[in-house]
Parts: sequence; C-alpha cells; structure tokens
Amino acid sequence: MQRATISTVASFLAFALAACTDTAPPSSPNRPPPAARTTLATDDDDVQLDVPLAGLTAAELDRFNRGRAVFSRVFTEAEGLGPSFNSAACANCHEEPSVGGTGDDLDEDIETHVARLTGTTCDDLTASGGGVIQHHTTQLLQAAYPGYVSEATPSGAVVAHRSTPALFGFGLLDAIPASAIQALADPTDANGDGVSGRPSLANGKLLRFGRKATDETLLGFNAGAFQNEMGITSSVAFDEQLLVGVHPFPFSSAISPTTMGSEISNQDLALATDFVRFLRPPPQAKRDVQANDGRELFSSIGCATCHVPSLQTGPSSTRALDRVTVEAFTDLLLHDMGDGLADICRGKTLPSEFRTEPLMGLRFRERFLHDARAETLDDAVLRHGGEATRARDRFSELKANQRAALIAYLNTL
Ligand code: HEC
Ligand code: HEC
Repeated sequence: MQRATISTVASFLAFALAACTDTAPPSSPNRPPPAARTTLATDDDDVQLDVPLAGLTAAELDRFNRGRAVFSRVFTEAEGLGPSFNSAACANCHEEPSVGGTGDDLDEDIETHVARLTGTTCDDLTASGGGVIQHHTTQLLQAAYPGYVSEATPSGAVVAHRSTPALFGFGLLDAIPASAIQALADPTDANGDGVSGRPSLANGKLLRFGRKATDETLLGFNAGAFQNEMGITSSVAFDEQLLVGVHPFPFSSAISPTTMGSEISNQDLALATDFVRFLRPPPQAKRDVQANDGRELFSSIGCATCHVPSLQTGPSSTRALDRVTVEAFTDLLLHDMGDGLADICRGKTLPSEFRTEPLMGLRFRERFLHDARAETLDDAVLRHGGEATRARDRFSELKANQRAALIAYLNTL
C-alpha cells in the first residue's frame, strides 16, 4: 500500500544492486503512458509498464481506461467493502512500479492463505473463515463486535504466505487454448527427464490462474479477488466471506448494508478484467553476448522445460489477442517443487505443487517465489526442488561465468 517501510526500501536496494547492470529504478507511476511498444527495449529508463496491448480498437482502449478506474477505485463500506477485507482497492496491492504491478510492501501486500489436508482431502477452511484470511474489518462490524479488527487464523490450519504478483501480460495467458497447455503435460514422466507437469483440472476444466492453479479464467479469478481481498461480492463470487463468531450468516444489514452478490456490477467486473486483459507484457531488454549465452544455458540445463519460452494464443475476436505469441516463460502446469517450497493444498493441488511462475517481466521484480522469500535470482533458483532438482543441480554446477550469463539473461526478461 502507499506506505514506505524499511523492509521495502531494503528490498528495493537489494533489487537495485542485484540488477544494477540493466535495471533502472521504476519510473513514476504518475507519468502518462507512452504509445505501446512491442519491440525490444534498448533503454530501461523510460519503460512504462501499465501500457495497453498494441492494436486495440478505440472501443477496447476505452474499456482498458475505464477498467483501470475500476481496478484503482477505493471502495467504501457504503459501496460494499467488507465486513472483512485486506485492502480497499486492487491497485493498493497491485501497484509497483505502476497500476497492475506487484506489491511494494512486504507486510501489507503479502497475504495469509490457510488450508488443511486430511488424507487426500483438502479443506480450504471456508467454514472457519479461510482460505484467505482478511486482516481488516469495517467500522460497522467493529461497532457490533468491539475488538474484532482482524480475522483469526483457524485452529489447526496450515498457514501460507503469498506475495502480490504483477499482472502485465496476463490477458494473453487467459487467451491460450487449454489444449495447448495440456499438450505440454507429461504426468507420468514418459520422456524420463524428471519433469512431470500435470494440468490442474476440475470438472474437466483446465485451471491456470493463481499460484496453485485454482481458477479457470481471468474473470473468475478477479471476481474471487474482489470477494476475498475486498469483501466485494458479485454475481460470479456471490457470498461474503464468513467470519467466525459473527452471526447470523448471511450477515445482518447492520453489519453489511449492501446487497450480497451485487456490490460490484457485472459491467464493472468485466471492465476491471479488461484492464488486466489488455495490459501488455513488459518488453524484454536487449540481449548482449553474455545474455545470449545465458539464453542457451536456460534451455540446455532444463529451465525451459517448465518455463516454456513462448506459447500461442487461440483465435479471438480481439485482434490484439488473436493467435499471437506470448513469451511468458511458463507452461501453466502444476509441478512438484519439493518439500522446501511446500505449504498448503488447494483443491486437488498438493502442498508441494505450484504452477510454473511466468518469468515475463522478471527484471522488474524485487523479490521472488510465492512468498517473496528469495531476495536474489540465484537464491530463487537454488530453492527449486522436486521436479526441478535436476535443473537446479545443473545450475549449481555451472562455472561462474556461465552462471553469470544465465542470470544476465534472466535480467533481460
Ligand atoms: C491485499 C492485496 C491484494 C489485493 C487488494 C488484490 N490482490 Fe490480486 N493478488 C494478490 C496476491 C497475494 C496474489 C497471489 C495469489 C496466489 O498466489 O494465488 C494475487 C494474484 C492476482 C492475480 C493473478 C493470479 C495468477 O495467476 O498469478 C490476478 C489476476 C489478480 N490478483 C487480480 C486482482 C484484482 C482484479 C484485484 C481487485 C479486485 C486484486 N487482485 C486485488 C494480492 C492482492
Ligand atoms: C519443474 C519445473 C521447473 C523447472 C525445471 C524450473 N522452474 Fe523455475 N519455477 C517453477 C515454479 C513452479 C516456480 C514457482 C515456485 C514458487 O513460487 O515457490 C518457479 C519459480 C522461478 C523463479 C521465481 C519467479 C518469481 O517471480 O517468483 C525463477 C527466477 C525461476 N523459477 C527460474 C528458473 C531457472 C533459471 C530454472 C533453471 C535452472 C528453473 N526456474 C527451472 C518451476 C520450474
């Protein structure tokens, strides 16, 4: 959120030092966006990230701009915020270096998710206030329940932390046909490379959004974000989040005066989604000889098996999304990443499984991995385990100049 903390400053410095070869400090979020750029950037000083895809129609551009306003809108209690929430606006968390970006605050922009795995059954603890814990409550709730300022962690829950990812280019991920993603799966590791990605499936639908691949579409994920992060319910994500000890449920109008299921209109939900949908992927930096060497190593040591360099979108009535190549560096599949990274289950996704994190825009990130535990790219790679063990070990065995080349390449993404 809009507060500079010591940890933020420290992490920014760490980032600036780690990436000093080719990354300048983020540009001002208040500057007007320049025209969309799809070619490689040669100079990072002026890279603006909250830029629409090239080739949008005037009507689509209008939706992008109106959607940006919904994404940035600070909701009030009278408009449906709460009774429990983490923040009052999408852009309060997704804010760095511009709207749609990552969180800038290691306290406030990192969420608490909970679940419990019993045998093979994953309970996201909805009945006791999970799976996302809300750290704030409204004045109305506190008037009725003095001292109820934050939601408690359900007892017996496994607790996980989630940093706020940047959303640049995520509309293109939404536009990739499920069949293209499933074609990359190798659940039984038939080719014997140690990597056995599997699609996250529910009722025959492929789920691709969220670090645990819990949601099928961008719209569905966003509706869940309004509900879980802000207590803003819609026709898609209808219920308020349950709060243990607050009765009756659904809440009385004294606590929640707005009508459940319509705190945001379908139109505004679609606009916020189109803002994200039309955000262009960050341009890659120009590669020098060293980064080109690193690019080859990225493939030869096995990083590209999961971080698939490019995918193709399917046919779309939006020309900017229609059969275009997206260099997202993900297969959108679930992989067992080992015990070191494991935390909670979600649906059929096991504690150790994560969807391959897209690496597009990597050079603009300050912290890495699902809970921001890694401060450097080296550390992020060395913490890979499970199916990524072989690639990680090959990375460790690289000569110093090769490792530097690989990191230089990562810093162009
Ligand atoms: C309190 C901070 C916070 C707020 C407010 C917030 N988000 Fe997020 N957002 C997150 C975190 C944390 C994640 C990562 C969740 C995960 O790892 O599954 C995320 C992930 C996402 C993703 C990407 C999922 C993926 O596939 O990686 C989208 C899209 C998204 N948020 C949209 C929104 C929208 C739209 C809003 C406003 C309704 C919003 N977010 C509000 C913190 C926030
Ligand atoms: C088996 C699949 C797999 C392989 C192989 C793999 N990764 Fe990953 N990578 C992942 C997953 C899954 C994550 C997300 C893990 C998390 O958030 O805890 C990830 C995360 C990352 C991140 C952090 C991104 C972020 O913003 O948090 C970097 C950097 C990265 N990988 C680089 C590499 C490199 C370099 C290699 C080759 C040495 C590699 N990966 C090999 C699956 C893989």
